[in-house]
Amino acid sequence: MRMLDLILKKRDGGALTEGEIRFFVDGVVRGTIPDYQVSAFLMAVYFRGMTEAEVAALTEAMRTSGEVLDLSVVPGVKVDKHSTGGVGDKTTLVALPLAAAVGVKAPKMSGRGLGHTGGTIDKLEAIPGFRTALDREAFLRQVDAVGFAVVGQTEGLVPADKALYALRDVTGTVDSIPLIASSIMSKKLAAGADAIVLDVKVGRGAFMPDEASARALAEAMIAIGRRLGKRTHAILTAMDEPLGREVGNANEVAEAIRVLRGEGPEDVEEVAVVVAAEMVLLAGLAPDRAAAVAAVREALADGRGLGAFRAFVAAQGGDPAVVDAPEAVLPRPHHRAAVVAWADGVVTALDARAVGEAAMRAGAGRATKEAAIDLAAGVHLRKKTGEVVRRGEVLADVLASRPIPEDAVLRLREAYALGETAEDAGLAGRAAGG
Ligand code: URA
Repeated sequence: MRMLDLILKKRDGGALTEGEIRFFVDGVVRGTIPDYQVSAFLMAVYFRGMTEAEVAALTEAMRTSGEVLDLSVVPGVKVDKHSTGGVGDKTTLVALPLAAAVGVKAPKMSGRGLGHTGGTIDKLEAIPGFRTALDREAFLRQVDAVGFAVVGQTEGLVPADKALYALRDVTGTVDSIPLIASSIMSKKLAAGADAIVLDVKVGRGAFMPDEASARALAEAMIAIGRRLGKRTHAILTAMDEPLGREVGNANEVAEAIRVLRGEGPEDVEEVAVVVAAEMVLLAGLAPDRAAAVAAVREALADGRGLGAFRAFVAAQGGDPAVVDAPEAVLPRPHHRAAVVAWADGVVTALDARAVGEAAMRAGAGRATKEAAIDLAAGVHLRKKTGEVVRRGEVLADVLASRPIPEDAVLRLREAYALGETAEDAGLAGRAAGG
């Protein structure tokens, strides 16, 4: 087999066989196909797309390119959860304890933030003592005993994705549905859960800016699950403005705890309840969606969700006092800079991407993979879309441990659009759905 023939076939709109796709993935992992041919192939896929069968074959070849986890020692249905990435997205920190409180077993591998989106692993590292690396036995024991564990992705999982993503990133081929779907699903499948809930973000702060493309991505991932025998459910949730009022790391953990106490912003609670309920449903712990939602809401109201979060923090070496006094335990910002309203009116838009970039410039995220982050840095949103403001009133604060860079404040100001009336806000309150 020659790589050139595969490139020509895809360039001319043909469909590759399973054997051809496996040849490609093996060559990528072993380094026998040069980067320029891999890049040309990726660009051909970007323009020509892939059939459902091709995407499934690509995912399967990627899944088995490295370590594959076996979770069978943990009894029960194991359910994983994945978000396609957002700003202020602390859903995992709320949904997993709620699902675990209802009886779901949730083994989760999470990523770090990159660019304008945050990562759950960075957020958890804001809790003093918290360990995001566990050996396999400790990970499985914790899933069994506590109901869930969250760790960083192990090095050996899906090496094909690491190699392909690095090239996609520099060849303009990241935003291709077959490539995104196979990248996400290969990692989820290698992580070994029996069922998967996908939270596909749609809007200005997401990978998928519009509903049609988000739906197409969700359908591509569900089709992979169907073909490879993994129960997969997807929901679409809004990411035009950030989720909740905190964007960063320590401040997002504190907000997640407030939600688990029943004091958190409604939008975070809503998405977390929907995700947790889908996990309960896939685990077979409720007869229908309404019963699953009711069970999750009960675990939130009676404090079992908060209790599960406390047990999780303690099991991974973190200080469980964070649950009772988050502000006293988490790193605190010593600097704060305000963005104030320049007119009377209503917030008509709050651009999630711009808020994420402002938080990153303040130190909450990384511009490069190796950069260190300031766990206390971030953004606190006092006003969101649809809310009335007075000239001179604070819209939002930039937070950090060190003096706040001017460009962070400027970027946060650009995130806001003000209008004269509530009607100008138009899209206020686009809720979770799908
Ligand atoms: N997340 C992934 O894991 N892979 C992609 O290609 C895009 C988002």
